[in-house]
Amino acid sequence: MISKEILNDTDAVYNFMDGEKVLGYLEIRLVDGVLDIMNLFVNEEERRKGIATSLMNEVIEKEDYSRIMLEVNEHNDEALRLYTKLGFTEISLRERYYGEDTAIIMEKVK
Ligand SMILES: CC(C)(COP(=O)(O)OP(=O)(O)OC[C@H]1O[C@@H](n2cnc3c(N)ncnc32)[C@H](O)[C@@H]1OP(=O)(O)O)[C@@H](O)C(=O)NCCC(=O)NCCS
Repeated sequence: MISKEILNDTDAVYNFMDGEKVLGYLEIRLVDGVLDIMNLFVNEEERRKGIATSLMNEVIEKEDYSRIMLEVNEHNDEALRLYTKLGFTEISLRERYYGEDTAIIMEKVK
């Protein structure tokens, strides 16, 4: 089950629950129609079961935005595949954003 927790005027977290246990979560920020993915994490033993896809789809379907933006490490193949599969496209790069690694900025327009 996915539950939404509102943190303040701009921020919220979606939790993927199994009973009382949180298996994964997705933090978002929504300002002026731009929805930022702040954090996405699935417990290691629960990965590759579609949990991140469910969390992302919940946000994509339920939130009121004009575009979604996120930053991902160029070497994070799992996350890059996930976002590409969900229809995000690369719009720019930020070099040395993660230490030596580059951040890929991705976007999905509604
Ligand atoms: C990235 C992460 C959130 C994916 O969560 P997940 O629940 O395992 O993802 P899903 O099961 O929904 O997988 C969706 C798609 O992502 C891709 N993917 C996920 N894990 C993958 C892996 N180990 N290898 C290759 N592709 C992978 C695949 O395209 C997959 O679709 P498929 O299973 O039909 O091939 C998870 O690995 C994680 O928490 N990583 C650490 C934190 C992190 O990097 N967060 C993203 C920061 S931008």
